[in-house]
Amino acid sequence: MAKMAASMVENGEDAFRKLFKFYKRRNPPPDFSDVLDFSKAVPSDKVAQAKLDFAAVSDVEAARVGLKPVRDWEVFGLQGYPGFIFISNPFLLGSQPFWVRQCLKTYPQRPNICNLDMHMSPSETEDIWGKSIHGLTSSPSEKRKPLTLLERLRWVTLGYHYNWDTKTYSANHHTPFPADLHLLSYQIAAACGFPGFKAEAAILNYYRSDSSLGIHVDNSELDHSLPLLSFSFGQSAIFLLGGTHRQDTPTAMYMHSGDIMVMSGQSRLLYHAVPRIIPVPKELITLDKYSGNVASTLQANTLMEQISKQDWTVCCRYIQSSRVNVTVRQVLGPGQCFPETPTPPKGTDFGETASYHEGPANRVSQKRKSPRCDSVDTVET
Ligand code: OGA
Ligand code: MN
Repeated sequence: MAKMAASMVENGEDAFRKLFKFYKRRNPPPDFSDVLDFSKAVPSDKVAQAKLDFAAVSDVEAARVGLKPVRDWEVFGLQGYPGFIFISNPFLLGSQPFWVRQCLKTYPQRPNICNLDMHMSPSETEDIWGKSIHGLTSSPSEKRKPLTLLERLRWVTLGYHYNWDTKTYSANHHTPFPADLHLLSYQIAAACGFPGFKAEAAILNYYRSDSSLGIHVDNSELDHSLPLLSFSFGQSAIFLLGGTHRQDTPTAMYMHSGDIMVMSGQSRLLYHAVPRIIPVPKELITLDKYSGNVASTLQANTLMEQISKQDWTVCCRYIQSSRVNVTVRQVLGPGQCFPETPTPPKGTDFGETASYHEGPANRVSQKRKSPRCDSVDTVET
């Protein structure tokens, strides 16, 4: 069966799109046997152990942001993708709830910007969390309609806010970047050999079980020598990592809760996409990763505060069917400024990246919605 994925791409013609559609397919479901699982990875001809700078982050600094000591991280590189680093869930047991809560309760708040702000009034989008608690804590058997605001969240931007129309960042569209997420990103980048990383912009993607993210390259940042960090929480996903051309056959891999990807060096500007969310057994989400005594593994000087029982009930319910992805970017190189007249990124063929770049509402597309929201399926060439 694994041959099936290979046979889809034999002719090399837009191999990425073919594999994207292959993994997105519902009926019949695809064969997943070619999908790399780093949580089970043993070094092979494709996967290699990657090197980290153990001295860059002390154990205390790591624990402060909820991470294990760097020497205990399981880190992989991929043959053929120099600069791509996969860190298989380096979070301390019990520290993910804090980050999930930040992504669901804190970061969607103003002055940060979210998709709901595009078509709702400021008073309607005030307190997305508070307005969603009842709907998310009521019994699952109760018929709930309409969806809560939290369930309608698709993206949030932090720091330099990405402009979906011009595909640029600008000096005058900026709000303070959250200090906790900056510190987490700074430590991870340092361990990966990028000391002094400045988290200046982030895009959070919120995926329901039928969402996908179209084929794209992240090239709007002005300095591409700096890494892009990507965090996953909640449900698992299939991530496709391609090459510099759409004809390059991508590699499929799972991203599980807590996993971190670093795209740097020659892998910073590669095509990538998320064709599918993979459900995780309920027991794993509630018990294995999260329900340990949050405080017990955490240090006195930690940034992580213990989250309330009610907050965790809401987060738990949400991530039992959803996935949150956070991508953190440094936009400007050291000493760099924005140009007087912003120019959209060039040099990349965006032929069929509409689902990502077409407009804010369409970034993460979903199956059931109107055809315009599901542009990956509808944009055919
Ligand atoms: C992005 C992105 C991938 C993911 O936000 O640019 O590629 O894993 N996200 O959701
Ligand atoms: Mn991306």
